[in-house]
Amino acid sequence: MDYENNNWIWDGVYNFPHLFGGLMLTAALLGFSTSYFGGIGVPHLPYLWSDMGIFYKKKCDKRRIRVYMDGCFDLMHYGHANALRQAKALGDELVVGVVSDEEIISNKGPPVLSMQERLALVSGLKWVDEVIANAPYEITEQFMNRLFNEHKIDYIIHGDDPCLLPDGTDAYALAKRVGRYKQIKRTEGVSSTDIVGRILGSLRDRKVSEDQNDTSLNGDPKGESQPKGAHLSQFLPTSRRIVQFSNGKGPGPNARVVYIDGAFDLFHAGHVEILKSARKLGDFLLVGVHKDQIVSEHRGKDHPIMHLHERSLSVLACRYVDEVIIGAPWEVTNDMITTFNISLVVRGTNSENNFSLSGEGDPYSVPKSMGIFKLLDSPSNITTTSVAQRIIANHDAYKKRNAKKSASEKKYYAEKKYVSGD
Ligand SMILES: *[C@@H]1O[C@H](CO)[C@@H](O)[C@H](O)[C@H]1NC(C)=O
Ligand SMILES: *[C@@H]1O[C@H](CO)[C@@H](O)[C@H](O)[C@H]1NC(C)=O
Ligand SMILES: *[C@@H]1O[C@H](CO)[C@@H](O)[C@H](O)[C@H]1NC(C)=O
Ligand SMILES: *[C@@H]1O[C@H](CO)[C@@H](O)[C@H](O)[C@H]1NC(C)=O
Repeated sequence: MDYENNNWIWDGVYNFPHLFGGLMLTAALLGFSTSYFGGIGVPHLPYLWSDMGIFYKKKCDKRRIRVYMDGCFDLMHYGHANALRQAKALGDELVVGVVSDEEIISNKGPPVLSMQERLALVSGLKWVDEVIANAPYEITEQFMNRLFNEHKIDYIIHGDDPCLLPDGTDAYALAKRVGRYKQIKRTEGVSSTDIVGRILGSLRDRKVSEDQNDTSLNGDPKGESQPKGAHLSQFLPTSRRIVQFSNGKGPGPNARVVYIDGAFDLFHAGHVEILKSARKLGDFLLVGVHKDQIVSEHRGKDHPIMHLHERSLSVLACRYVDEVIIGAPWEVTNDMITTFNISLVVRGTNSENNFSLSGEGDPYSVPKSMGIFKLLDSPSNITTTSVAQRIIANHDAYKKRNAKKSASEKKYYAEKKYVSGD
């Protein structure tokens, strides 16, 4: 789908080489993906060019289909990313509504991430073309009309789980009636509820004596004897999912490959920011996602909260990322630098791991000795720990919110049937 969407850009290049040849053909040779242009702050390329009155002339007979999907996107995970990927495939341009903090508070309890952080996460996804901040939690008729008229939305997309208004009516009845509703399949195996459960679960494991009477978190009294997360995580990584998330392109000839590594646990706005900064330093961003065991060794046995494949998918979904090493080593070796033709190794200043304290060897000593290491100023001070701490600080509120949600999740899994689609 992505390829189809972008084809017309390239058509344009070949039809107007005198205008764009310099810029675009160079870009093509260097193997830039089109998402790269998002990375340097040209968010709506089609519009920019349409202003020049050239491209719509050729393609105006095939109007671009705009689809809309909304959500809270609190604790972004690959389930959200996959839903948006599927939504994008139903049209040409994906507009995403991000529900306001106030609406989340009144409907579900306090969000873990602020509006700004959630917007940064959603905008960082490679399938998202536009975002609408402060969308309503329940889609009203008024808002729906705004979507159709103001935002020129063709279809509203929602998952296959029923979405009912407080009075029991279908939130999407109107859109369905006018034939502007499309459905996607729910992504199995992960939810924000599940992630909050894992964090609170690790907290509970640490304070077993205090909490040992408490089974409200997942309603499973045997939960404590199981390994962390085992009672919650239903994620089954498939090769197809990884392919769907991948760009499927290696670096072009002469590309400058930048490497950044880390756990990328609980993928958050700080990750998006640092990946964006790193991508700007080269033509191809290679991201090393550390193995679960490495993360545990450095952060404690409750970590990582998300497994290696979950973390890798979240990183792959980011528009600034070109390729991921699934299970990268702790140390950046000479061999890796040669294998991937890495020109620059970067690291953010705001990091969970402070190895200068642990007395361990510096994992970046090789790139440092080669003079290809750079410390990047982290644009954001948010960390995985600070996100987890917010959840723990709001322990009671989240526990209540989760108990309610977990019951409906359990019911879903108990009653679910095979649904085709991806
Ligand atoms: C467990 O619950 C019982 C009865 O509610 C209470 O007496 C006991 O102190 C609780 N134990 C802990 C460790 O909280
Ligand atoms: C390796 O990267 C450098 C840029 O640092 C580039 O000039 C060179 O062409 C690359 N080598 C290959 C074989 O692509
Ligand atoms: C690690 O700790 C040292 C000593 O406290 C400090 O000087 C340094 O800035 C820290 N580095 C990072 C990346 O936090
Ligand atoms: C992080 O940055 C925000 C604003 O940029 C600031 O309000 C907050 O105090 C900072 N937190 C820490 C731990 O430095």
